[in-house]
Amino acid sequence: MYVPVALVTIATRFWVMHMRKCLIAGNWKLNGDHALCDQFASTVFPTDSSFDIVICPPATLLQSMQQLIKKHSSCLRLGGQDVSVESQGAFTGEISAKMLHEAGAQYGIIGHSERRAYFAETNEKVAIKMAQLLAANVSPIVCVGESRAARDQQQTLAVIEAQLSPIKAVLQQQALSCSQIVIGYEPLWAVGSDQPASPEQAQQVHQFIRESMADVPDAEALRIIYGGSVTADNSAALLAMPDIDGALVGGAALNIDSFLGLLPVV
Ligand code: PGA
Repeated sequence: MYVPVALVTIATRFWVMHMRKCLIAGNWKLNGDHALCDQFASTVFPTDSSFDIVICPPATLLQSMQQLIKKHSSCLRLGGQDVSVESQGAFTGEISAKMLHEAGAQYGIIGHSERRAYFAETNEKVAIKMAQLLAANVSPIVCVGESRAARDQQQTLAVIEAQLSPIKAVLQQQALSCSQIVIGYEPLWAVGSDQPASPEQAQQVHQFIRESMADVPDAEALRIIYGGSVTADNSAALLAMPDIDGALVGGAALNIDSFLGLLPVV
């Protein structure tokens, strides 16, 4: 059994400052196995109620991880890494939002830059996936982010706005609340690169996203989390920013010690 070491009280302060519950999500991508599930589920995480911890393993591990979470009375929540735009039918290899929900997922990542780059996930598809997840009572973690070239050409905010636009349209047309939605700002140049955005760079885009989403129902409840090379060395400074409500973590979520090290401490 793993027990975190240092326990001071940043998480409570975070809650008071941000008025939104901090969310730390681990995205295992195409990694992980039953043993890693068992290690995470049997770990005693800081239990302060001011933040949520979500692990997004590959879909085949969701159900067994769900059982391990129950067995160990773990505070972990589960998320999927993608979802189909379809609800059911002849779509070989797809997984529906309802299936994710039944497997125990409370969250679902959509629009990750790897899905956009390698699997032709468009802004419009991401918006459909968001609606599918919400209808199945699964909270979407909608990823947005600009390439290095876009940033160099001062196109960051334009790219983000184009990615948000169909999302906002669906939310407004269907009068869906922002309270179940998470936006993950993940600059492509920071993902898996050991070159995280600086807290100031991330804050600038998070603030822009918050302003852009201001007309959507319950906008003040929208959680915007940062992803891209988050580690124990940089998480506290990122989470201290007023519009950063959590972190989406790839590489550092594959090892229990590095993951524990980046959590807000209670
Ligand atoms: P990283 O990945 O933490 O390894 O940069 C983040 C992500 O892809 O969500």
